[in-house]
Amino acid sequence: MLEVARMLSLLLQLAFTSFVLLSSVNTGNAGITSTFIRSEWPSTDIPLDNEVFAVPKGHNVPHQVHITQGDYDGKAVIISWVTDDEPGPSKVQYGTSKNRYDLTAEGSMTNYTFYKYKSGYIHHCLIDGLKYDTKYYYKLGSGDSSREFWFQTPPKIDPDATYHFGIIGDLGQTYNSLSTLEHYMQSPGQTVLFVGDLSYADRYQYTDVGLRWDTWGQFVERSTAYQPWIWAAGNHEIEYMPYMGEVIPFKSYLHRYTTPYLASKSSSPLWYSIRRASAHIIVLSSYSSFVTYTPQWMWLKEELTRVDREKTPWLIVLMHVPIYNSNEAHYMEGESMRAVFESWFIHYKVDVVFAGHVHAYERSYRISNINYNITSGDRYPVPDKSAPVYITVGDGGNQEGLAERFRDPQPDYSAFREASYGHSTLEIKNRTHAVYHWNRNDDGKKVATDSFILHNQYWASNIRRRKLKKHYLRSVVGQVST
Ligand SMILES: [Fe+2]
Repeated sequence: MLEVARMLSLLLQLAFTSFVLLSSVNTGNAGITSTFIRSEWPSTDIPLDNEVFAVPKGHNVPHQVHITQGDYDGKAVIISWVTDDEPGPSKVQYGTSKNRYDLTAEGSMTNYTFYKYKSGYIHHCLIDGLKYDTKYYYKLGSGDSSREFWFQTPPKIDPDATYHFGIIGDLGQTYNSLSTLEHYMQSPGQTVLFVGDLSYADRYQYTDVGLRWDTWGQFVERSTAYQPWIWAAGNHEIEYMPYMGEVIPFKSYLHRYTTPYLASKSSSPLWYSIRRASAHIIVLSSYSSFVTYTPQWMWLKEELTRVDREKTPWLIVLMHVPIYNSNEAHYMEGESMRAVFESWFIHYKVDVVFAGHVHAYERSYRISNINYNITSGDRYPVPDKSAPVYITVGDGGNQEGLAERFRDPQPDYSAFREASYGHSTLEIKNRTHAVYHWNRNDDGKKVATDSFILHNQYWASNIRRRKLKKHYLRSVVGQVST
């Protein structure tokens, strides 16, 4: 009897110890590799005759309409579109009430050839001197072929301005791409931060390359005509295709998609920055030189000194190739840029770095590897409170399919990873907090698969919090005394 009791007590002890051990594993800091099985459509491009690519009828009708920010601070917009029949006009009529277009702006036209493909007439028109936080209506084309759209300007640059960004990467033009786009459009996102690889037209040959740029322009128009997309270039924009005699990098992309690079003193449309509401957004080019003393390196060094966290508390960096990536796809491709820029990201306390390229989702903890040293042997990323969160959203849904093979085991720095299609949103609430969501397509718009509160890297420090409190108390006292 005594023996049985002892056995029972031993078993109970064993069960209790196992429970404690298992609990500590579950609540520990280990990252999550999601085992979600998604039901995806085949990764093939939508056929050319599908209605998503349909061009409206009419002589010289404007199509492939897209807008982007046109200056440093959000008071200008660049409107771009294509016409097929005539080279002009490149005129935009606009105003603040529907059907009343008091203002006009004149843009310019460009076109290009790619192998035997001849592009349509591509128009870019800057409209500036806009009022903040205002809805503008604009009209392109004339007579029966005219088309009307609208956009909303951002609030003025202010540290507590709220703003809602969407983040999309590697979109392409498949049914999965359409699903991503439609899901994003159901969100309250006001501007898209696009992390490169737009059309995947370079997967085609000869005249089909240009043709698939056209279809993509038409495909995304439902969103790009109504809100700015902030462009970063990816490898699918390079289009170095010597077998067709096409060797000028980024030829199609640069003709079609403009950026306000001069406003941020950049020498190339491939890297630049903008300020929008309470965010300073830096766009880098993974496929342009960035080592020490190159133009991109020199520009970024200067631009980081111009960031004023008192005015734009949120410092966001966009690039195509992720610096931290534990997927087998494109593993270590971001290492060269990490070696050059990571110490600056830490020094300037970048809040978040968004990248694409890998066709899966991954989020890191705040870590850095700036102690890496080829002689000392320090070589593993460590937790670092000054480091940004690195997020890969190359999961827009292009024809290359998902990157399903993650490296095993999941490295300590990887917080969450999953090979599904989707998009992210970043909702800035004020200078200290933003709400981040990654939305898996299969869940519909209501479910955020990965979400967290992003604390601002500048205003989250104790000194700044005290300053904020003092500032707040002063404003309350001011309100009471007036
Ligand atoms: Fe890519």
